[in-house]
This record gives sequence, C-alpha cells and structure tokens, in this order.
Amino acid sequence: MAVPIRIAQLSDTHFLEEGASPEGGGSYDTAEAYESVLAHLGDHADMDMVVVTGDVADHGRPEQYRKAAAAFARLQAPVNICPGNHDFDHAFQAGVGRPGVATSRVVEIDNWAFLFVDSNAGMMSVDDRGLHIDPPGQERLHNNGNLGSREAAWIAQMCEATLAEHVFVWLHHPPDVPVPASHSEAYANEWRDLLARYSIIRGLGGGHTHIPDEYEIAERPVFVAPSLKHNFSLEPQTWLPPGYRTYEFSPDGLITSAVHLVDDERWPRKPFGRALKSLFMGEITYDQLAEIAARRGL
Ligand SMILES: [Fe+2]
Repeated sequence: MAVPIRIAQLSDTHFLEEGASPEGGGSYDTAEAYESVLAHLGDHADMDMVVVTGDVADHGRPEQYRKAAAAFARLQAPVNICPGNHDFDHAFQAGVGRPGVATSRVVEIDNWAFLFVDSNAGMMSVDDRGLHIDPPGQERLHNNGNLGSREAAWIAQMCEATLAEHVFVWLHHPPDVPVPASHSEAYANEWRDLLARYSIIRGLGGGHTHIPDEYEIAERPVFVAPSLKHNFSLEPQTWLPPGYRTYEFSPDGLITSAVHLVDDERWPRKPFGRALKSLFMGEITYDQLAEIAARRGL
C-alpha cells in the first residue's frame, strides 16, 4: 500500500536572547512555547521532515539563531528552514545550520518535490560585489512578500527540472492571505502567474500572519501555520495558544493538514478588542496600535 509523506510545520518561532524584549511587545515566552510544542509533538522520529517557515528569530540577531538552532537540533526528524521577514539574511545564513538542521532549497521525497522559497527575495539589494543583501535599516521587517524576477524564475526552473510528480511550496508569506494587514496584491499576482503556468504545484504552506488558516489561491490550497510568539483567531475574535501543523502528502497528489494548538492556562483563549482587530484589517498601523496601548496604560 502506498504510504503518505508525513511532515510537521513550525513557523514564526521568534526566538529571543535571555532577557531581551520582544519586537512590538505582547509576546508569549517563545522558549517556553517551543518546549510545549516539542512536548506536544512527542517523539516524531517517524516523521519524514520538520519544516520551519521563517521568523525563526525575533530581531534576526546572531545569538537568537544560536538558540534556535540548538532547539531545532533536538528534533528527531531532519529539519529544513526557509527565512521570514524577521530573519536578516547574513545572521540567518551564518547561524541557523546544524547537523540535521538545514536550509536546503529543494528536498525531494518519493514522488514529491518540496521547494523552500524565499518570499523576501524581491526586496534584496545588490551590493558593489554583486552580493544580494538586505536593504538598509528595518525595511525587511515590514515586508509582506515579494518574490522578484530572480526567485520567480528559480521556482519556474525547479518546476521544469524536477522528476517528481508533485511540487509543494514552503515559504514564509502566504500569498493572497485574507488578512488585509499582511496582504500584498503585487505579491499575490506574482504567485497567480506562477500557478497558472505550473499545474504541478499542488499547494503552499506558510506562516507570517500568526492567524492559522486554510484557503485557496488559483484552486490550490494555502495552509497557514500557528506562531509561537502570539496567535489569534479572527472568528471568534480571540487569542490562541501556540501550536504547529502536521501534513500528509499522498502519492496521488492529495494533501491533508491539521492545526494543533497547545492549550494551557499560560495562554488562554481570551477575547481581544477593536484596536487589534483594526490592525489586522489594515485600518490602523502598528505605531497607532502602540499609541492606543500606551494611552490605555497597557
Ligand atoms: Fe512572525
């Protein structure tokens, strides 16, 4: 009997150094959340792979990757990672690798090819040595997805070159995501173009919004994983515990996935107010939300 490929997905782990403050505030203790998720995952030695879809580190600092890599190295299954908008390129590339913890761009298992796409690639600058580097300042941190022609061409080449029958894309930014604050129409159009050309792409898995979800773009499923930093439901309007996703990829091209949330009194499913909802809806900015929180003494 044909056996499906089994994969667990972590996303938005936002590791911090000891004593550091989280970017933007309002965070769970991500080291504690990771321990809970790892315990909930249990012994997953029989998993084919664990993927981490970016925002590995909260500020993209070297010490945060050291902590993240040590944490990922404890997983029994091989781990493969793609970067998020918090993962400043040089620190990420230099710091996150360990034996069993990789940043491979393509992983083939049975008749599936898994592409690990950099959904920040289109915002990179080229320096005077021809290296692709992060743009100056905090620009990367506020990216909502941007493939650029180079990354889009790479995806096209991989779809054409692979001998696998099915392709699945792992990436940080889910395209055409139904959360206005995290949505970029230009980025969604980059994906609509690729999905129209490559029917071999069966689906995509990402993170970024911290709002677990499943929806479609161009008749392909898009799965959004929970975060470990903080996590929300828009309907009903509540906080959610940290968690992860699991997947099964069948030889016939079908994908099933489930969200797993680690309920605990440390992260109750409490309701959130209008200001945070307005942020998700793109009606106010992060700075305006911070002003409102400061005014209310939160
Ligand atoms: Fe994130």
